[in-house]
Amino acid sequence: ARLVVLVSGSGTNLQALLDAATDPGYGATLVAVGADRDGILALKRAEDAGVPTFVIRLKDHPDRSAWDRALRDEVRRHAPDLVVSAGFMKLVGPDFLAEFGGRTVNTHPALLPSFPGMHGARDALAYGVKVAGCTLFVVAEGIDDGPIIAQAAVPVEDGDDEQSLHERIKAAERALLVEQVGRMAREGWTITPAPTAAPDTRG
Ligand code: GRF
Repeated sequence: ARLVVLVSGSGTNLQALLDAATDPGYGATLVAVGADRDGILALKRAEDAGVPTFVIRLKDHPDRSAWDRALRDEVRRHAPDLVVSAGFMKLVGPDFLAEFGGRTVNTHPALLPSFPGMHGARDALAYGVKVAGCTLFVVAEGIDDGPIIAQAAVPVEDGDDEQSLHERIKAAERALLVEQVGRMAREGWTITPAPTAAPDTRG
């Protein structure tokens, strides 16, 4: 499967996919990495791996809808089977979703539907949860509200601050992303929630 990955930051999720894709049996190859801004480590990670990159800046377009169409057109050029939004800090719009909806997934550092939005890990910590985690879901029109594909739980430790908790979540997040993207790529991109282990009720 051909992957396009969208990023806005440090790119540790991207790096996990780049590393996984070096295995020819993984089932997915990264054909391009796109960003909404320059000068981020994620773009350097892609360049170091020899993966083509592109940047679609909001300020280069008259409005968000024009930006959305520009992003759609650039992603289309790479003919992806799957688009992975990994730390991408923009909401894709209706034109993008008209073309790539249903095969665009996003990873979020909280157990949706709890704590959607820009600061999932911080909001969970502030709420006082004892278990945090991450969610891989199908991007839909709303904010972080698409069908859930898989989740992973992460304990909150005494003394955690946002950074320590988010780092622990990100370790689980990139493992979940690599596992699920590989599964979907090999299964021919069927968006089905991961089989959850049925509780062993035999006692
Ligand atoms: C990830 O936790 C992602 O879920 C959140 O921001 C973080 C991006 O990390 N939206 P990175 O850029 O993949 O290192």
